[in-house]
Amino acid sequence: MSNSSGLILAVESSCDETAVAVVKDGRRILTNVVASQVALHSATGGIVPEVAARAHLRWMIPVLEQARQESGISSWSELEAVAVTEGPGLAGSLLVGITMAKTLCWLYDLPLVPVNHLEGHIYAAWLLDPEEEKPAPDFPLVALVVSGGHTFLVEMKDALKYRLLGQTVDDAAGEAFDKVGRLLGLPYPGGPAIMKAAAGAVARDRVFPRAWLGDTFDFSFSGLKTAARREVAKELGIDVKDMGSDGQALPESAVSELAFGFQDSVVDVLTSKTLRAAEEIGARTIVVGGGVAANSVLRKSIEDAASARRIRVVVPRPGLCTDNASMIGAAGFFRARAGARAGMDLAAKPSLKLAVPEPA
Ligand code: KG4
Ligand code: ZN
Repeated sequence: MSNSSGLILAVESSCDETAVAVVKDGRRILTNVVASQVALHSATGGIVPEVAARAHLRWMIPVLEQARQESGISSWSELEAVAVTEGPGLAGSLLVGITMAKTLCWLYDLPLVPVNHLEGHIYAAWLLDPEEEKPAPDFPLVALVVSGGHTFLVEMKDALKYRLLGQTVDDAAGEAFDKVGRLLGLPYPGGPAIMKAAAGAVARDRVFPRAWLGDTFDFSFSGLKTAARREVAKELGIDVKDMGSDGQALPESAVSELAFGFQDSVVDVLTSKTLRAAEEIGARTIVVGGGVAANSVLRKSIEDAASARRIRVVVPRPGLCTDNASMIGAAGFFRARAGARAGMDLAAKPSLKLAVPEPA
């Protein structure tokens, strides 16, 4: 039976985190359980889809049970709806979450609400921890989503409405962090490892290229990997074509300096384009989401640039930037209230888009 308790149970399993959360009124986190597969995938230096799907199967029920205990909810029948990530992501992984959500809806007679994972990364900016108070982001806003698989800027004039301003033409920002991290012999995932290594850089004079792509809001990060390879070869005193693809044995100081130069380039481009987009559309708020938004240098850079222009920045705490189910619960609440419903035939949509370029 549907009710208007505002309580949304959310399930997220699109990539390598098995996550269940309960969120009230699209903002307040009652519980946020995430079982990470990072340790599992670090041996292979990346995600093996079949291994990820099996791990979701192993952890989904224990994660759901922990969420039930922590939420203080006596029965799932008190829920207003169940929200689930329908895409984008790995098909086999998505299916585990979708099947769990359908089962709960069938058992408790609840509405099923499909959520786009990328919309979730944006709506993470609405979330509040148990004791936290802060106003919701104001429209119009510019949202920068920077994750392992996506990098784009959208304008939101209103809730759930997106206009694509620009996107990566090749690698996602997180993908660049992961690839360069691997090249430098750092552990998986590369993002946090590069941030840590860069913080230890003494010399900060290694300048990596910036792909500005004219006055567009598009991004390109694939050249950074090539630039990093060139720098590493120079460091080793060998020719680029004689160099292996990853795990180079470099002195720690060189790793730190290269990590710093690479991160500085990514942060510079992301900050400049986001601020220019915000000024151009007269944004009242800048929202940043996705795993790379957990990067403290990026957060500070955007916050400093925006405060100079009196634009409010909302970046979730790092644990809510990386994949979690609370963000699906936040987006799911607004989607549910807007009437979004899926049937028991809901399918995984591995290549689902949030917004497509407008015709020129
Ligand atoms: O959003 P997310 O958890 O999963 C996707 O939907 O892709 O993002 C994962 C990505 C990875 O590429 C990871 O290296 C990156 O986010 N990441 C970071 C940091 N923490 C995670 N990148 C830079 N700095 C970080 N602190
Ligand atoms: Zn994500």
